[in-house]
Amino acid sequence: MSASPFIERLREQVGHEFAASQQYIAIAAYFDGQTLPLLAEHFYRQALEERNHAMMLVQYLLDAELDVSIPGVAAPQTSFDSAAAAVKLALQQERRVTDQFSELTRLARDESAFQGEQFLQWFLKEQLEETSSMSDLLAVVERAGEENLLLVEDFLARNPVGDGGADDAAPAAAGGAL
Ligand SMILES: [Fe+2]
Ligand SMILES: [Fe+2]
Repeated sequence: MSASPFIERLREQVGHEFAASQQYIAIAAYFDGQTLPLLAEHFYRQALEERNHAMMLVQYLLDAELDVSIPGVAAPQTSFDSAAAAVKLALQQERRVTDQFSELTRLARDESAFQGEQFLQWFLKEQLEETSSMSDLLAVVERAGEENLLLVEDFLARNPVGDGGADDAAPAAAGGAL
């Protein structure tokens, strides 16, 4: 029997999370190359979080005794016209992933996949947090302007953006979260 639409989309989401992780590594390297270490650190950390999300989905597939496939990912964008353009791309990515989890939840509900729907609840909450913190970061970068990105570094030194990934309620990640 072929997998249900919900399970097929869930497997695809593994690839979306790895793609998000690669995109964040590319953005982190861009900032590192500009000697903006705290912006770089923020995106290296986000890359790890996305990798962990992928591995949480893998753990769910394992727990549900479903076949696990690890999809390849398209190359991320690696050059950016400005810091604001890089953070804007990150915000668009978070909004797209939020839509993907909303659709996954709708499919789980349509199929009466109640455990699947419960599993997805954490990701919906996580997307709210990640979209909100990326939107905050974009506001700070735009307010500072390209000439004053050191003000953004100064801001990040005093006000870390986001929750740093610490969340005891997070689902288990295959092999352990990094
Ligand atoms: Fe994610
Ligand atoms: Fe994310």
